Amino acid sequence: MVKYRLKCIECSSIYDDDRILCDCGGLLDVLYLNPPSDLCSRWMSRRIGVWRYFELLPINSIANIVSLGEGGTILYRCGKIREYFGLRELYVKNEGGNPTGSFKDRGMTVGISKAIEHGAFAVICASTGNTSASLAAYAARAGLKCFVILPHGKVALGKLSQAIIYGANIISVNGSFDEALSIVRKVAEKHRLYILNSINPFRLEGQKTIAYEIYDQLGSVPDVVVVPVGNAGNISAIFKGFVELKQYKLTESIPRMIGVQAEGASPIVNAFRDGLKHLEPIENPETIATAIRIGNPVNWKKALNAIYSSKGYAISVSDTEILEAQKLLARLEGIFVEPASAASIAGLRKLLEEKIIDRNDLTVCIATGHGLKDPNVVAKYTESITSVKSKEVSKVIKQLLKVNYSSAKT
Ligand code: F0G
Repeated sequence: MVKYRLKCIECSSIYDDDRILCDCGGLLDVLYLNPPSDLCSRWMSRRIGVWRYFELLPINSIANIVSLGEGGTILYRCGKIREYFGLRELYVKNEGGNPTGSFKDRGMTVGISKAIEHGAFAVICASTGNTSASLAAYAARAGLKCFVILPHGKVALGKLSQAIIYGANIISVNGSFDEALSIVRKVAEKHRLYILNSINPFRLEGQKTIAYEIYDQLGSVPDVVVVPVGNAGNISAIFKGFVELKQYKLTESIPRMIGVQAEGASPIVNAFRDGLKHLEPIENPETIATAIRIGNPVNWKKALNAIYSSKGYAISVSDTEILEAQKLLARLEGIFVEPASAASIAGLRKLLEEKIIDRNDLTVCIATGHGLKDPNVVAKYTESITSVKSKEVSKVIKQLLKVNYSSAKT
């Protein structure tokens, strides 16, 4: 039985094969054909995680699933930051809890399973780091050859070491992520490599389960969801998840989708601010949050649609604000995230200050990746270590005991 079709977001062509892009070059969306009416009871009989939602995932047979146990990440209730910001209720969905430490694993379990169904022998991606770490792991698990194209010198150490240890063929190129992705699109066709960047609609289907899980964990839909944005696949995927929950009558509302970008890499924020329906790429994107150092996001059209049609918003934050938010989340809540993830907390602070969202809004921030992905940022920017002679330790402890640790609240 056919489970889904693909529809082009540009020309509305419909396909019943497993291509990645439309003949016109447009991005595709997955549409499901008559899913069973008892979705809820089927889902509740399975443990939480990506594959709980099998009926709304584009894989034909469970025998093809390649999994490392992704999804089912904790939705933390953040009482201290809530209080500090003066919000009614704040949750952080910690995607750093995934097998390779980022939300990419949700996409890769579905994307690699599709590559297997498709008969692929080798996979490829461009990456700012997390996609390559995740792809390398899932390709290893599936026994597929893996190529990752990385912007030279701009991938955080933790992510690079993951791609190395999982055995990916790593090719580093001069230039930005955007250039690396355009190289991938050219060489993939020539060498018949299966692309697993977020132009791949099957990968995004895995990522939409963030929305399903939030609904399952809260028992309702939040008012606002705040998402860090780079190539803009994730915000589009999460929005699609909420739209489907409504479409299948599991929920009644859709949260306002709010995208947060770093100031030096904010083409979507610029488009939103100017009310544009097109994107003006940023030539040389720059930010400390290397995961979202992207100037020409391929999913911009899907993302702007998510923001506009949910009455959402797009906001940018500075590198200083990102680092402050990273520290705040770690010190007030015990949650260590990488800089790109902290952008959602930094964004939330600004959204409240600028009264874009209301203090009574039930808000969920998506923390996209684990803090250990980028240890160098912490070592470089956060004061931490006191070096003393051994006989002075006691004296120093006495002094430090007088320091007020709420200095994290800067
Ligand atoms: N947060 C983290 C930690 C990421 O790694 C990324 C993207 C994003 C947010 C933004 O998600 O691209 O869907 O808007 N990382 C990609 C990569 C680009 O190659 O790992 P997006």
